[in-house]
Amino acid sequence: MHYFDLKDGVLHAEGVNLETLAAEVGTPTYVYSAATLRRHYGLMREACDAHKGALGDALIAFAVKANSNISVLKVLGQLGCGADTVSEGEIRRALKAGIPASKIIFSGVGKTDAELAFAIREGVRQINVESSTELERLIAVAASMDAKPDIAIRVNPKIGAGGHAKITTGGAGDKFGVPVEEAMDLYAVASRSAHVNPVGLACHIGSQITDLTPLESAFKVLRQMTETLREQGMSVTRLDLGGGLGVPYYGETNTPPPSAYIAMVAGVLEGLGVEAAFEPGRLMAANAGILLSRVVHMNERTDGRRFLVLDAAMNDLMRPALYDAFHDIKPVRPKGGEAIPHDVVGPVCETGDTFARDRNLTPLQAGDLVAFMSAGAYGAVMSGEYNTRPLAAEVLADGDKWAVIRPRPTYDEMFAREPIADWL
Ligand code: LLP
Repeated sequence: MHYFDLKDGVLHAEGVNLETLAAEVGTPTYVYSAATLRRHYGLMREACDAHKGALGDALIAFAVKANSNISVLKVLGQLGCGADTVSEGEIRRALKAGIPASKIIFSGVGKTDAELAFAIREGVRQINVESSTELERLIAVAASMDAKPDIAIRVNPKIGAGGHAKITTGGAGDKFGVPVEEAMDLYAVASRSAHVNPVGLACHIGSQITDLTPLESAFKVLRQMTETLREQGMSVTRLDLGGGLGVPYYGETNTPPPSAYIAMVAGVLEGLGVEAAFEPGRLMAANAGILLSRVVHMNERTDGRRFLVLDAAMNDLMRPALYDAFHDIKPVRPKGGEAIPHDVVGPVCETGDTFARDRNLTPLQAGDLVAFMSAGAYGAVMSGEYNTRPLAAEVLADGDKWAVIRPRPTYDEMFAREPIADWL
């Protein structure tokens, strides 16, 4: 569900007319809907609160990697949402958005000593440890600071899932977490340390998961491990269940709603007496954002192929090039007519700069606006300046209000980041 709808024949972001917006801010521009973000958080919160018995006071920690714009984080933070982070930069963003350190989880396979020290200094809620070497380093860093941070051990349950091989994380060969046996050993090592306090286990098996079965299997592994660790006299009070729940990108009806997902988790954890944490990224942000783009021209070739060339490119929205991902493309002012196949491409000099092949679209012409739907997660955050294309602007719509929350950089600003070697 989202709040991008047609009003008077023009696509709006909540109360904001996207034609007017494009005229003022230019294109390509990401536009987010605050009401949609709030709605998604609300659905998760409501579902968790309905299962307090099984989940405790569950923390919903938005996966900042999905959309790290500070205003977006602020919308969620104001509702009580926490943050799942994977770098010092993301922790800094979350703090800047007003999310307290006590609600910030620090995950990631390659945290540096400096990043670990930063997280300890800021007093984050929990550091998710992903390997034995990281645990050793963390203990050394904490000892040097005379600290004892709360940690969780990230388990690789050898159950991978997700919408694409490149976004599956829980499989045996994936780089994330440690296998069950090793996790049990690490937990024991951590329990004996004076410089870390193991509070629980974590897992995240993949992204864009539309079948609850692999998630349920993974969570059962965590439950079993919790019981065994407790039998061995160790304390386990928290389980971090990661993110991963899929969203409908194009009218899919097989995506389980948050309520079904949370009910499944509650069923697995019933009676265990742990506090759950969730790290949804896509679920919160994907359908809360669009990428607004203008048609540069239609290249109707004599061989019959119809290329719709946009002013957005793979550097702005990488998901189709990287994962063959599907994003619905909607005209901002639908004109009707027969939908015919188009290849939708950007101006970057690579064949991979193709958003869609043979996509049925009603006729469009130079100057028309289109919206890539469901682009609020893993959109702007994954963009770059390839071909010296300025980063797309970002705008937040909230009712009838809107604000530029990341301006498009000028060429001067871009070039100012590159001091010229003084001997040239
Ligand atoms: N927690 C951890 C430890 C993660 O690695 C991730 C995502 C999440 C939470 C959030 O997962 P979500 O709820 O968003 O599925 N760029 C890819 C997605 C990469 C996801 C990486 N990890 C894409 O555009 O599809």
